[in-house]
Amino acid sequence: MQALSLLQHYAQQAQSQLSADIWHYLHADAGSGQQSLANVQGWQSLKLYPRPLATLKHPHTRCELFGERWAHPIMLAPVAYQKLFHTDGEVGTAVACNAQQGQMLVSSLASQPLADIIAQAQQPLWFQLYWQGDRPRTLALLQTALAVGYSVVVFTVDAPVKQAVMDLPAGIAAVNLSQPLSPKAIGPGQSLVFDGWMSQAPDWDDVAWLREQCTVPFLLKGLMHVDDAIQAAGLGCDGLVISNHGGRVLDTTPTVAEVLPAIAHAVGGQCKLIVDSGIRSGQDVFKAVALGADAVCIGRPYIWGLAAEGAMGVAKVIRTLRDELEMTMALTGVANLKALRQVSLF
Ligand SMILES: Cc1cc2nc3c(=O)[nH]c(=O)nc-3n(C[C@H](O)[C@H](O)[C@H](O)COP(=O)(O)O)c2cc1C
Repeated sequence: MQALSLLQHYAQQAQSQLSADIWHYLHADAGSGQQSLANVQGWQSLKLYPRPLATLKHPHTRCELFGERWAHPIMLAPVAYQKLFHTDGEVGTAVACNAQQGQMLVSSLASQPLADIIAQAQQPLWFQLYWQGDRPRTLALLQTALAVGYSVVVFTVDAPVKQAVMDLPAGIAAVNLSQPLSPKAIGPGQSLVFDGWMSQAPDWDDVAWLREQCTVPFLLKGLMHVDDAIQAAGLGCDGLVISNHGGRVLDTTPTVAEVLPAIAHAVGGQCKLIVDSGIRSGQDVFKAVALGADAVCIGRPYIWGLAAEGAMGVAKVIRTLRDELEMTMALTGVANLKALRQVSLF
């Protein structure tokens, strides 16, 4: 029998340490619950050709996006309320990310102040923006993040209807929001979805408006359709995070591994492409870059590390994936990410 990998070990440890409610929130899936499994399978089912005997000159995993340089392309996806999982919270994640010379996307629903997180990180971080129901409130949140030094804005558009929620324990809240968004009050016979949530959801006009307000690189997170990617590129978005939100929002979508090649073909020259949903190993990172991604995000795996060992656990998860990426590159004869983009998968 194979020994447990570090990630599996952390997942088990996290499950035994977290309350059932918090574990369920972390692992919540839309509908049938099959989407997050399908996401993982999507990457794992792609095959690699071993390429022994290649001479690798100065191999490395360095990655550069929007003028920022990191040691590797493994970024940390925005995950809400991180103090739910460990008292280190987002600050712990940021410290780990800096120690591992990577990048993190801090959620609009962070449980610690944006200024504290970036101060402890000792590097500029990226801010994940959620629509706040209207333009003035959304702009106020954006400006708060920019004022304390967030260097890139990632606007998440795939969760306009409230999904996985839990009653937050005392002391844990979205501390950066002046007032958390709740559905608009509806009248008798009205729909909670159409008349409630969707009446305050953003649309393409809002994306165009936000792009104009934003003085730093601006990305959309949560697109899966090639036509949407083309529209976003046309509006001047600097990048896209191709994602199905880890399977938490809409059930039975394609996997990111399935949609990425067409999107990369259509807009890869215009927009930087980051992917998430189901990335569980350095081999998955390798495959994502081979299919056209410039970088990847991981979600649940680093939260397992955070829950198990705080900042140290997050750092070990990033390092493990980076080691696996290097190993995969060595076994497939690939010296760097530029060369990796030329690799064909089976
Ligand atoms: C507990 C949890 C909270 C999340 N919170 C946010 C969030 O606040 N903003 C956001 O854009 N995405 C959020 N996501 C989605 C992640 O950013 C990411 O898309 C997803 O976790 C990637 O899939 P993976 O968990 O399979 O790696 C959340 C995901 C989880 C598991």
